[in-house]
Amino acid sequence: MRRRDFVLGALGAGLASTGAFDSLVRNDITAQAAFARGGIPYGAAVRTDLLDTELDYKEAIIDHCQIVVGEGGLKWIDVRPSQEQFVFDQPDRLIDFADRNGMQMRGHTLAWYGAMPDWTKTIASADEAERELVHHITTVVGRYRGRIPSWDVVNEAIAETPMRGSVIRNSVWQERLGPRYIEIALRTAAAVDPSAQLVINDYNIENPTSQCRDRRKALLDLLRSLKDRDVPFHAVGIQGHLPGDMEIDREGLSRFVEDVKRMQLEVLVTELDVIDDTLPANEYDRDRIVARRAGDFLAAIGEAARPSAVLTWGITDRYTWVPMWFKRSDGKLNRPLPLDASYRPKALMKVIDEFTRAAE
Ligand code: G3I
Repeated sequence: MRRRDFVLGALGAGLASTGAFDSLVRNDITAQAAFARGGIPYGAAVRTDLLDTELDYKEAIIDHCQIVVGEGGLKWIDVRPSQEQFVFDQPDRLIDFADRNGMQMRGHTLAWYGAMPDWTKTIASADEAERELVHHITTVVGRYRGRIPSWDVVNEAIAETPMRGSVIRNSVWQERLGPRYIEIALRTAAAVDPSAQLVINDYNIENPTSQCRDRRKALLDLLRSLKDRDVPFHAVGIQGHLPGDMEIDREGLSRFVEDVKRMQLEVLVTELDVIDDTLPANEYDRDRIVARRAGDFLAAIGEAARPSAVLTWGITDRYTWVPMWFKRSDGKLNRPLPLDASYRPKALMKVIDEFTRAAE
């Protein structure tokens, strides 16, 4: 069933609280009705250009989503092609689309090691780095103040393999400022838009490996140290780029979410997809494994807390980052997302629907 059909039956339901995502005026029946049902809002990362060029894509987003986030567009490489410039074409278009369709837009991302323009390599000192980071966040968050209710302020801050003495991932910010860049970023965002949900977003924490255990511990240590210093932030974004060939560590993940919740922080799923390069070629079998991984992942989180949102990183297998890094060797298309390349819902969509609506 398409989400549009599902939600149309929901008109008249009372407005229930959905955390950071229930504050804007909504003017479209689809997303508005879905918000009104009071389930966990679902959304997807969007390639903004496609909204103008591919009708099926645009309709799929409208049919299924209450939240959008730019897959790009708000990254430094997009907003800051040069030190002097701020380019807001893509996020301006996406937020207009979101407004017109009663959706909300998340902001991704303000302090990350990736997608940095070359000129940032010339940032030479701690003072200059702090000046640039504060200027950037002030300008970007300020432009959308009161309109973007949730920001991935700090993205992927934990080292790939955290080790004693090197727990924070290297970046221009870490090199010049050390870990205090995280505090600077959060304090700046909070000062500019005190109403926004400020998120620390990370990945690779959900499998039964020592690397994931170490990463969960490193992330919890970071959250605690920020809390101890009264640094303003509100949530942990669990990206959820799930390796299809690995079980979910349900107990470890649930315990992690409980620990997060105990710190009075929210959780949300920000970039769910299932990396299927090593899964069976047969599409039916593959889709079932993909759905089961996501189901286990969501269930483990749901046992400990109600996420404030669930977003997938893209909506259709037609447009996904996965083959950039995890192309299949048999030449078949990757199938990491809820809709197939022809926009037909797959088992993963059903799992997400059931999870988000169970909370209604
Ligand atoms: O737009 C250009 C296009 O003009 C050019 O022809 C083409 C040639 O390579 O590149 C296009 O840009 C690519 C862009 O994606 C648009 O799809 C960039 O090369 C490529 O680096 C960029 O990759 C993105 C990546 O982040 C880096 O920003 C992926 O789409 C995006 O899915 C990925 O998203 C990240 C999240 O931000 C953080 N978490 C992990 C997630 C997946 O890697």
